[in-house]
Amino acid sequence: MGSLPFFASICTLILLSILEFSSAADKITSGQSIRDDETLISLSQRFELGFFSPGNSKNRYLGIWYKMTPQEVVWVANRNNPIPDKTGVLTISSNGSLLLINEAQSIFWSSNSSRMPANPEAQLLDSGNFVLRDSNDRSSENYIWQSFDYPSDTLLTGMKLGWNLKTNFQRNLTSWRSADDPSPGDYSLKLEVNDVPQLVLFSRSKIVARSGPWNGLQFGGIPMMQNYVFKPKLVHNEDELYYMYDPFNDTVLTRLTVNQSTGKMQRFVSNVGSREWDSLYSWPFDICDNYEQCGANSYCRVGGLPMCECLKGFVTKPQDEWGTPQTTTCVKKPPVGSDCRNGEGFLKIARMKLPDDNWSNQSMNTKECRAECLKNCSCRAYANSDIRRKGSGCLMWFGDLTDMKECSAGISWGQDIFIRVPASELVNHSYKKKIMMIVVTVVSIIFCMFLLGLLVYKAWKKTRSKGNTFFNLVDFNSEKVY
Ligand SMILES: *[C@@H]1O[C@H](CO)[C@@H](O)[C@H](O)[C@H]1NC(C)=O
Ligand SMILES: *[C@@H]1O[C@H](CO)[C@@H](O)[C@H](O)[C@H]1NC(C)=O
Ligand SMILES: *[C@@H]1O[C@H](CO)[C@@H](O)[C@H](O)[C@H]1NC(C)=O
Ligand SMILES: *[C@@H]1O[C@H](CO)[C@@H](O)[C@H](O)[C@H]1NC(C)=O
Ligand SMILES: *[C@@H]1O[C@H](CO)[C@@H](O)[C@H](O)[C@H]1NC(C)=O
Ligand SMILES: *[C@@H]1O[C@H](CO)[C@@H](O)[C@H](O)[C@H]1NC(C)=O
Ligand SMILES: *[C@@H]1O[C@H](CO)[C@@H](O)[C@H](O)[C@H]1NC(C)=O
Ligand SMILES: *[C@@H]1O[C@H](CO)[C@@H](O)[C@H](O)[C@H]1NC(C)=O
Repeated sequence: MGSLPFFASICTLILLSILEFSSAADKITSGQSIRDDETLISLSQRFELGFFSPGNSKNRYLGIWYKMTPQEVVWVANRNNPIPDKTGVLTISSNGSLLLINEAQSIFWSSNSSRMPANPEAQLLDSGNFVLRDSNDRSSENYIWQSFDYPSDTLLTGMKLGWNLKTNFQRNLTSWRSADDPSPGDYSLKLEVNDVPQLVLFSRSKIVARSGPWNGLQFGGIPMMQNYVFKPKLVHNEDELYYMYDPFNDTVLTRLTVNQSTGKMQRFVSNVGSREWDSLYSWPFDICDNYEQCGANSYCRVGGLPMCECLKGFVTKPQDEWGTPQTTTCVKKPPVGSDCRNGEGFLKIARMKLPDDNWSNQSMNTKECRAECLKNCSCRAYANSDIRRKGSGCLMWFGDLTDMKECSAGISWGQDIFIRVPASELVNHSYKKKIMMIVVTVVSIIFCMFLLGLLVYKAWKKTRSKGNTFFNLVDFNSEKVY
C-alpha cells in the first residue's frame, strides 16, 4: 500500500510529460485530437488554443487566447453551444472538417467548408489564426477553413472586417453576452457601405455611432491617435472590401474589441512578452459621437452652448423652436429667386465628421465636384473623398445632412465640407470683407499722406532755415520752444 503514492507520482510525471509534449505542438492531423486538458501553442508561443470556462461559468468552450494573458480570449468556436462538462474533444473528422464533440459523440461545433482535403491538418498560426488546410499545400494561404473568417469580439492584426464581395459574406465583430457567456451579445461593429465605407457600431439593429467615411487615410470621425502603434488600411478590390491594420513594430501587440458591457469599440496595446494590456482608446469618445445626437442639418459641438447648432444657411424649424436641442431640426433658408443655381453658393466648414453620404465619384476633382453639385438643385453639399490626393475624389449629399460633429483641433480627424447656402449668406460674408478692405485702405492712405506731409514740411523747413532763422523758433521734433 505504501507504494501507491510513489506510483501515483510516477503516473503524474508521465502524464505531465505527455501533456508537456502535446502542449508544445501547434497542429493536429487527421486522426489526432485535443482533449479538454490539452492545448495547441503557436510556434512563437504567442497564442494558445484549448478549452476554457469564462468568468464564473462552469461551461466549457473551445477558444484561442494569448499565452501570456490567458484571460484575453480572442476567439471562441462553440459560442452558442457550450459543453457542460470536461469531456469535449476537438478532432478532424473523416470528411476532413474540424469537429468538436463530447463523450456522447454529440456535435457542439464543426467547421464548415465545401472542399475536402486529402491530408487535412489544423494549425494554430502565430497570428492567432487557426487554419485547416491540406498538408500537401502548406505554403499557400489557400486555407480550407480559417478562424479569421469567423471573428468573435476581437479583431487581431491580419483579420479582415468587412465583405467578401463574391459570396456577399460579411465579417463583423460581436460582443460577448457577458463576462461569463461568450454567446453573441447586443453590440456589434460592422463595415457598412453607403457609397464610401465607414465603421458602424450597433446595439442590436440600432446604430450607436458611425465613424464617418474612409478618407484615404482613416475613418474621418475617429482620430488618428498614437499612430505609431498601427497602420489602418482599407482594401477594396474585385473580390473584397475590408478594413484591417498592420502593426508598426512587431514587438507591439494590438487588438480591437467590442466591450460586452459598454458596447464601445476598444483598442488595446501590449508589448510582446508583457502580461499587461493598456487601453489606447475607446470609441464613442463623447456625447457628440452618439448617432444623430443633433437633428438634421445641424452639427454637434462638445462643450458648445447650445451643443447643437444649425449649419449656416439653415434655420431652426419653426415648430421646433421650443424643443430641446436634441430634437432641433434645421431647415434650409429659402434661396432668393427661383433659380437655385444663381441664388446659391458654397460655404466651407472645417474639421467636420462628414454626414452619411450616398454619392461619390473617385475620378472627379474638387472643381468638377463643385460644378456638378451646383448644377443639381438637390445637391446639398460636397467634399473631397480622398484627402491623400488633395483636390481629388468627390462626395455629394442629396437630402438632409445628418450626424455631423465638429472635431476638436490639434489631432488628425475631421475634414472640410462645402455646404450649399443661399447667396445672401455668401454676399453678407464678402460684403463685410469689402467694408473691411475699404476701411483698411483709407486708413493706410491717410497715414501715408500724413507721413509724406511731415517729410515735405521738414525738407521745406531745412531749406528755409539756411536763409531765415524765424522758422527755427518752432522745432517740430523736439517741441523746444524758444
Ligand atoms: C462532415 O462530417 C460531419 C460529422 O460527421 C458533418 O456534420 C458535416 O456536415 C460533414 N461535412 C461535410 C462537408 O460533409
Ligand atoms: C455551410 O456551407 C454551406 C455551403 O458552403 C452553406 O450553404 C451553409 O449555410 C453553411 N453553414 C453554416 C452553418 O455556415
Ligand atoms: C454581419 O452582420 C450582417 C448585418 O447585420 C449580417 O447579415 C451578417 O450575417 C453578419 N455576419 C456574420 C458572419 O454573422
Ligand atoms: C521596434 O521596437 C523595438 C523596441 O522598442 C526597437 O528596438 C526597434 O528598433 C523597433 N523596430 C522598428 C522597425 O521600429
Ligand atoms: C468593458 O468595459 C468595462 C467598463 O469600462 C471594463 O470594466 C471591462 O474590463 C471591459 N471589458 C473588457 C473585456 O475589456
Ligand atoms: C465620374 O467622373 C468622371 C469624370 O468627370 C466621369 O467621366 C464619370 O462618368 C463619372 N462616373 C460616374 C459613375 O458618375
Ligand atoms: C440631381 O440628383 C438627383 C439625385 O442623384 C437625380 O435624381 C436628379 O436627376 C439630378 N438632377 C439633375 C438635373 O441632374
Ligand atoms: C440620397 O439620400 C437622399 C435622402 O435620404 C435621397 O432623397 C436621395 O434620393 C439619395 N440619392 C441617391 C443618389 O441615392
